[in-house]
Amino acid sequence: MRLIATITLSLGSALLLAAVTLEAQRGQGAATNAPAPAAAAAQAAPAGNADNGKKIYSSYGCYQCHGYAAQGGAGARLAPRPIAFATFSRYVRRPTGQMPPYTAKVVSDQELADIYAFLTTIPAPPAANTIPILAR
Ligand code: HEC
Repeated sequence: MRLIATITLSLGSALLLAAVTLEAQRGQGAATNAPAPAAAAAQAAPAGNADNGKKIYSSYGCYQCHGYAAQGGAGARLAPRPIAFATFSRYVRRPTGQMPPYTAKVVSDQELADIYAFLTTIPAPPAANTIPILAR
């Protein structure tokens, strides 16, 4: 009885490991095949430093309402495929809802461009039907 339990257990974990590995491989494939994120919207945006954008997205507190991956939470989803830069910067300066305004004294135009550059680097998630565990 004990032997059967042990065999069942190790078989189970081997299967789980295989599934997780497969999933990870598929995820990578999907990410590399995905179209360039928000290429069209990014064209109209000023050049920004995505690394700095990622840092100030955290230090200026955007993440508190929009989530670390800009996936949304108390605030709207900002990525993947961010809205056009003009609309983006207008909203941050003069929000019309719950969001507090960020003037140019708090977040400079260059810093806004950096945050936007960071948002365009956030990849789209893999399609749900490419995730094996969801396809059952
Ligand atoms: C205190 C919470 C909070 C913080 C902090 C915050 N936001 Fe927001 N944001 C919101 C909410 C809530 C909305 C949804 C609209 C509304 O109610 O204003 C929003 C909407 C937006 C939108 C418009 C999205 C759309 O699709 O129309 C942009 C762009 C945005 N936020 C960017 C930022 C950036 C960049 C920062 C950091 C500099 C930031 N937000 C910080 C709460 C916040």
